[in-house]
Amino acid sequence: GVPTLMRVTPSMLKQHNTRDNAWTALNGKVYNMTPYLEYHPGGEKELMRVAGRDGTKLFASTHAWVSADMMLDACLVGFLVSEPIS
Ligand code: HEM
Repeated sequence: GVPTLMRVTPSMLKQHNTRDNAWTALNGKVYNMTPYLEYHPGGEKELMRVAGRDGTKLFASTHAWVSADMMLDACLVGFLVSEPIS
């Protein structure tokens, strides 16, 4: 069926920072990196540096030519949004 996409705040993102539950945000999109960890040409350790946080800058500085959008399409969790004002 059609996947349900989530609105993810930075504090929600922060909770997904382990190898079994590793999310990152790239250009406003949140991805679950866990299924991809073993396939990353740069290794798992490099990927884990951005687990639980916004990886846009680090990703762009290592390989701006790679399309994470296409590669991680099946791992899309949702969209990064700002924290609600309380
Ligand atoms: C290499 C994908 C995140 C560090 C690569 C390559 C791909 C890839 C396809 C091979 C590129 C090529 O040969 O031209 C991804 C995807 C990511 C991601 C889909 C999304 C989560 C990161 C992050 C870092 C990183 C956050 C750094 C902290 C590296 C390094 C290499 C590499 C150092 C070079 C490995 C080598 O050639 O020995 N990545 N990457 N990657 N990646 Fe990533």
